[in-house]
Amino acid sequence: LTLKEAYKDKFLIGTALNTDHTNGSEKSTSLLIEEQFNTIVAENCMKPEEVHPSENIYDFRKADQFVEYGEKHNMFIVGHTLIWHSQVPDWFFENEDGTTCSRERLIERMREHIYTVVGRYKGRIHAWDVVNEAIDDLEGLRKSKWYQIIGEDYIELAFQFAHEADPNAELYYNDYSLILSHRREEAVKLIKKLQEKEIKVDGIGMQAHYGLDYVKIPDFERSITEFSALNIKVMLTELDISVLPFPTEKISAEISQKYEMLPEYNPYTDTLPDSIQQQLAQNYVDLFKVLLKYEDKVSRITFWGVNDEHSWRNDWPIEGRTDHPLLFDRNNQPKEAYYSIIELG
Ligand code: XIL
Repeated sequence: LTLKEAYKDKFLIGTALNTDHTNGSEKSTSLLIEEQFNTIVAENCMKPEEVHPSENIYDFRKADQFVEYGEKHNMFIVGHTLIWHSQVPDWFFENEDGTTCSRERLIERMREHIYTVVGRYKGRIHAWDVVNEAIDDLEGLRKSKWYQIIGEDYIELAFQFAHEADPNAELYYNDYSLILSHRREEAVKLIKKLQEKEIKVDGIGMQAHYGLDYVKIPDFERSITEFSALNIKVMLTELDISVLPFPTEKISAEISQKYEMLPEYNPYTDTLPDSIQQQLAQNYVDLFKVLLKYEDKVSRITFWGVNDEHSWRNDWPIEGRTDHPLLFDRNNQPKEAYYSIIELG
């Protein structure tokens, strides 16, 4: 049994992909993807900095490859992401002389961007993460450039433009740490507001970049209940569980430092000790038990990457560590966590 088979009538099971996984240069990874997953999301190749590096230049080479790969294997294809504060080039927000552009100009650029990107894959990309990470860590909405220049209606405008560009695509709001109470409440507010204005929103993505023993299961469960009460799809969209300590206090000052400089955060080496393997498996099992309890509300579980080698968690929140957050190891071998999840399914 593979993941997608074990959860066949319950959830779509997915992974984030970069094109080097799909262009044939990594055969064993491609095979693994094809047997284990039935949905894919673009890890980087559809972000504005990749597809729209300057105002009059679009580059869809990688994005096209990604979509063709998904179509070839009959997968549910998710586009990620249209409007985000990160991995977006500065030109969006500037006039030719470098001053901040007007609300009207930014709205027009946003419309053009969304029409072009969503329009290109109309009927082929099944769902979009329309707005990503719009909620602030302390309170309210994030004061991103989108927010500062357009105002908080940038969110509804983005959804409206995406809907106009492909009326049949599912449209999602996606964010991290939605198990924290203020972020959960803010997300509920955001979705309700869209619904009150009759803006089409089909789902909410909980990114789920977790760590060992980071998730309080009752909080996780509460988010799933509250989000599903909004009558939208609930998804885990970027699941990974880091086995390394999360350096909360050091993160801003030392984020780019190598782990050697932080002996207290020494990462585990290439092989994961058995005790940590088991802990990782248990953490996944705890999450999946809740997800199964809500199987009629949860539509998709997507891992943020295929194997530990390519996981972004090796470089976040600190660069250069060796992490083991996924279900497959550096040789594409299934880990204990994999077998535990299969067994639950
Ligand atoms: C990450 C990618 O995995 C990295 O390769 C890239 O360098 C930075 O972005 N939230 C998101 C994702 O919505 O797009 C991010 O992906 C991880 C956090």
